[in-house]
Amino acid sequence: MATILVIDDNETVREGLAHTIKKMGHDPVTAASGAAGVEAFGARRADFVITDLKMEGLGGVEVLRAITAIDPDVPIMIVTGFGSVETAVEAMKLGAFDFVTKPFAPEVVRLKVERALELCAARRARRKAEALSEYHVAECDRRFDELIGASDKMAALRKAVEKVAASDTTVYVGGESGTGKELVARAIHRLSRRAAGPFIKVNCGALTETLLESELFGHDKGAFTGAIKTKLGRFELADGGTLFLDEVGDVAPAMQVKLLRALQEQEFERVGGEAPIKVDVRVVSATNKDLDREVAEGRFRQDLYYRLHVVPLRLPPLRERREDIPLLAAHFIGKLGPRTNPRVRGLGDAALGRLMAYHWPGNVRELENAIEQALVFAEGDQIGTGALPQFLQGPGAAEDALEVPRELSLPEILDDLERQLILKAFARAKGVKTETARLLGIKTSALYYKLEKYKIE
Ligand SMILES: Nc1ncnc2c1ncn2[C@@H]1O[C@H](COP(=O)(O)OP(=O)(O)OP(=O)(O)O)[C@@H](O)[C@H]1O
Ligand SMILES: [Mg+2]
Repeated sequence: MATILVIDDNETVREGLAHTIKKMGHDPVTAASGAAGVEAFGARRADFVITDLKMEGLGGVEVLRAITAIDPDVPIMIVTGFGSVETAVEAMKLGAFDFVTKPFAPEVVRLKVERALELCAARRARRKAEALSEYHVAECDRRFDELIGASDKMAALRKAVEKVAASDTTVYVGGESGTGKELVARAIHRLSRRAAGPFIKVNCGALTETLLESELFGHDKGAFTGAIKTKLGRFELADGGTLFLDEVGDVAPAMQVKLLRALQEQEFERVGGEAPIKVDVRVVSATNKDLDREVAEGRFRQDLYYRLHVVPLRLPPLRERREDIPLLAAHFIGKLGPRTNPRVRGLGDAALGRLMAYHWPGNVRELENAIEQALVFAEGDQIGTGALPQFLQGPGAAEDALEVPRELSLPEILDDLERQLILKAFARAKGVKTETARLLGIKTSALYYKLEKYKIE
């Protein structure tokens, strides 16, 4: 059902048109003057506008200009009395979609309405496709989007993602940097009934307040210097799909209010626009800020916090699910190898040992970067410890022992490692025994015992 605005100061014509429109199953809105018509359009968008040409005050041509300025895509048809066909032709040149001459048969109106609505749908689709394709150019290869991990924590997360995806609620994804928040947001979209719709991301942290507003809500032509054409906001682009508000903790207070309203009402206005725009969008937000603290310290509105947190998901840091490291490493070799170093088939045991032992403050992203770097330096078909980034190049007697089979038992390897660590601590403590013990986190008496055991002077 389409909304059709009828502007005519003659009641008989107005009601006649409204009647025909209603019989077609559409929704007529009527206005008895040009000014009232433009106002009505501002308050509620119509899919098609029919306006009389000659009216007191604002005439049809002015109405055409005013409405086109608000929405350049809406088709407008001019109704003319006998003898003013020339003006109607003028109006066509100004962008009117069509005109009819009075008196007209309902049949003619019906045909024109149908054609106009087709055109309107086509124009909107094209505009949206253009905006979306502009947006998608920035999107990269998404073949490797699965959430990898076999740990209990990942299994629980995957289950939660599936549940949440099936609902249509607002989701908040929290977690340290690089834990996979964006990946989870995309998974929620892909598994939801909105999968065929767009997934639109906004990085709230990267934009100034004014830019963010126009990015989220769009702007009308002429809203500010430089706004040379109407721009659809990300909320509008995401209609029927999912909007991912990344780094939502960085949104400035004034924008928090506007965001809250858009979320509550699923309705907003473009910058410089008056007509409210309705959308059907599921919002997923994320930030690596501690939002609870932001709220407690007054930087983030509590009402917005609750709005976003309908369902919160928390991603575990990688160091809490180290058992996923081998899977993730293999995944990244498969993902990055073909492009970076296609000869590499996998990781050596020692190299894997180093990856497992590290605490990964940058989480999965840091692991991914480490693998990429290791691929660059790897010689042969395995990543050895030598190819790993510097921060993973620690003392590694134990790991080397695994890589190069030696005639040593596990206790011997461990002793060797312990001896090397003590020597290192000794050097760093410049031979001061109490300091050496402190560095190693053991009692001085325990250090004496070990010094004797390893015959360290
Ligand atoms: N479970 C996972 N399986 C596979 N790849 C993952 C997983 N988690 C994260 N990644 C990869 O790690 C990188 C970082 O993930 P993502 O961008 O989703 O993190 P983030 O939490 O949004 O980080 P930030 O807070 O820094 O924005 C991406 O390349 C992503 O594909
Ligand atoms: Mg992110």
